[in-house]
Amino acid sequence: MQYARWQGRCNECGKWGTIEEEQTIAFAAGSQKTKSKGGASLAPIVDLASASAEPAKHTLTNISELDRVLSGGVVSGSVTLLAGEPGIGKSTLVAQIASEFNSPYYVSGEESQGQVVMRLKRLNIKPDNISFSNAIEVGSIIASAEKLKPSLLIIDSIQTMIASEIDNLPGTPTAVRAATAQLIGFAKSSNIPVLLIGQVTKDGIVAGPKTLEHLVDTVLTIEGDPESQYRILRASKNRFGSTDEVGIFEMTELGMIPVENPSARFIEERSNNPGSVITCLMEGTRPILVEVQALAEKSLFSNPIRRTSGYDAGRLQMLIAIINKRTDVKVAGHDVYVNVVGGIKIKEHAADLAVCAAIMSSVKDKALPKDTIVFGELGLGGEIRSVPFIDKRANEAERLGFKNKITPKTVQSIKNLL
Ligand code: TYD
Ligand code: MG
Repeated sequence: MQYARWQGRCNECGKWGTIEEEQTIAFAAGSQKTKSKGGASLAPIVDLASASAEPAKHTLTNISELDRVLSGGVVSGSVTLLAGEPGIGKSTLVAQIASEFNSPYYVSGEESQGQVVMRLKRLNIKPDNISFSNAIEVGSIIASAEKLKPSLLIIDSIQTMIASEIDNLPGTPTAVRAATAQLIGFAKSSNIPVLLIGQVTKDGIVAGPKTLEHLVDTVLTIEGDPESQYRILRASKNRFGSTDEVGIFEMTELGMIPVENPSARFIEERSNNPGSVITCLMEGTRPILVEVQALAEKSLFSNPIRRTSGYDAGRLQMLIAIINKRTDVKVAGHDVYVNVVGGIKIKEHAADLAVCAAIMSSVKDKALPKDTIVFGELGLGGEIRSVPFIDKRANEAERLGFKNKITPKTVQSIKNLL
């Protein structure tokens, strides 16, 4: 731990008079001199060429969608932060991960032994191999872990931990940072992987410090609409692999179950009513078909209602303006509701065309042919713009029987869309 100015007490260990002053070396531009006036010791220079470049050792969790996001499993000695809103499924997923390791150490500062056992029972997980504790003091947890030598250390959650008995207020940015720093030290020295759960507040901040994210090796977040059964697992940071892959799960009574064929799942209850359109999103490197629904109805108000679920309200306003200006479908005086089925949140502009098609189909009260797939970005002039992975999206659609394609390759303008 470093401090910018003099301070009597260490925030990390709580002890007084343990902080030493250090002089830093200031290099003048072009200077070749390395000896500092303050007499600070020189930073050792490592010969990169002779360093071993061993790849990180991954251990598969056998939870397919998690292994995909982790680029092949949990890395020895790594620290992973699993973040998400309360109730989204973090404790459930770590219980499932624990069951795949032969001697995990599960520390919960959030739930009692009874609550954890009940969850394990519901998930059909035998608690035999799991060492459990309700400790919240990181020093004692590390001491136990050094003795137990677990194959995985789970901390649920980092916000309930304290770094020392003196600093006894958990959840403060200082406590969370200090506890994390100690656990990182443990992971690196023992080569045991550590999995930290981080609570996220409603506005998406990892409660306490967002600064945790740069301390750890990997940051995973679970997203999803609590009303829907689907959950999406993303790596926003991954020191051992790509952050392109996304895991899709279904939250069931038996836990977070990987969804093997998401496209088929998200459209299986499809209605084909007017206002329903199938589009293809890219989740990481995977094309996924989802249903976009719109309902447009003549408004009784001077300010028509615009409501969205899973879609950006500002983008909807823009698309409505484009439809109104560039087509003969007059939608300005309509209330418009847009819903993305399955609790999926659309962020891609590639869905513009599908949202427009859904709105226009609802205004005209005319369904699209059943086997139609729609994607493409829309310009303000009503022109249809190219999007990434056109062929990949089209192939996925075709695989699921969508032969009638409305894409940047088949239409040029929104004018002749429907
Ligand atoms: P949990 O893993 O405890 O969430 P977190 O640790 O992220 O706060 O997951 C809680 C969810 O588990 C809850 O939203 C609904 C689900 N659940 C079931 O599906 N079946 C059950 O019997 C129970 C008790 C919970
Ligand atoms: Mg929990």
